Amino acid sequence: MDASGRQLSSPIECSDSRLDEALTYALSNPGKQLRSRLCRVTSAVIAGSEQPSAVRAGEAIEFLHTYSLIHDDLPSMDDDDLRRSKPTVHKAYDEATAILVGDGLQALAFEWIVDTPDLSPQQQVQLIKLLSNSVGFDGMVGGQAMDIAAEGQSLKPAELAQVHSRKTGALIEASVLAGAICANATDLQQSALRTFARRIGLAFQVMDDVLDVTATSEELGKTAGKDIDAHKSTYVASMGIEDAGNYAEALLSEAIDALDGFGDAALKLKQLGKLMVHRSF
Ligand code: IPE
Ligand code: IPE
Ligand code: MG
Ligand code: MG
Ligand code: MG
Repeated sequence: MDASGRQLSSPIECSDSRLDEALTYALSNPGKQLRSRLCRVTSAVIAGSEQPSAVRAGEAIEFLHTYSLIHDDLPSMDDDDLRRSKPTVHKAYDEATAILVGDGLQALAFEWIVDTPDLSPQQQVQLIKLLSNSVGFDGMVGGQAMDIAAEGQSLKPAELAQVHSRKTGALIEASVLAGAICANATDLQQSALRTFARRIGLAFQVMDDVLDVTATSEELGKTAGKDIDAHKSTYVASMGIEDAGNYAEALLSEAIDALDGFGDAALKLKQLGKLMVHRSF
């Protein structure tokens, strides 16, 4: 079920009872669902209404995102105890279970796309290529490796942008482009949407860095102040809270401008972009 009470479009099959329990636990608080909303709302920019195929693609993207969080929280990564206001999966169960739930969610995401009759075979292949690239070595996984390697280091601005754009921005960009694929957007439309998504994806992680120091653990549903403790390379460490916030605002404004060519059809997507930057958790 998502933040608006929406049920998944089909049940998930998992025959191992412990994995099934941990999977249900991991999905029971689904978070803000920003990436699936980006996918659905983008499909409406192009097609006039949210496409059923974008609902499915959005769910697949949330599986990938949830997998990335479960692994991000592992002791060998960020070593976090709290996620979405509950103990992390490895705390509630054990590390092996957390790794396997993440692995299973990643595989499920691609199966989900293939099991969507609303998508043509060509759209399925496009989505699988887009999503696998976005979470792979040049995307989320590569960014996570850079993030860990950068602990205790002071990165140049271009390097920091690379880390954030890969570890977080890539899947956000893919969420928008997935909606575009579901609605058969033209190359020109995709190009404007890509600019929006890149700016919003980076702004989103800049704000994640800001919120880590300005919000409480209760507000965030995850442990605040972790980045300083772990000597992470963040925008706050690099430019301070105020300048980081201003940078996120500047990126948001560029993102919104990129959608101007869509006129009123993009109002909801612009609002969602604003929410992703002006959020309190
Ligand atoms: C948290 O993402 C991890 C980052 C990439 C910064 P979200 O803030 O979207 O987390 P949920 O899905 O709402 O829990
Ligand atoms: C996480 O970045 C990015 C991914 C999960 C890929 P962070 O490590 O900053 O996310 P939080 O703050 O733990 O949610
Ligand atoms: Mg991390
Ligand atoms: Mg983390
Ligand atoms: Mg963070």
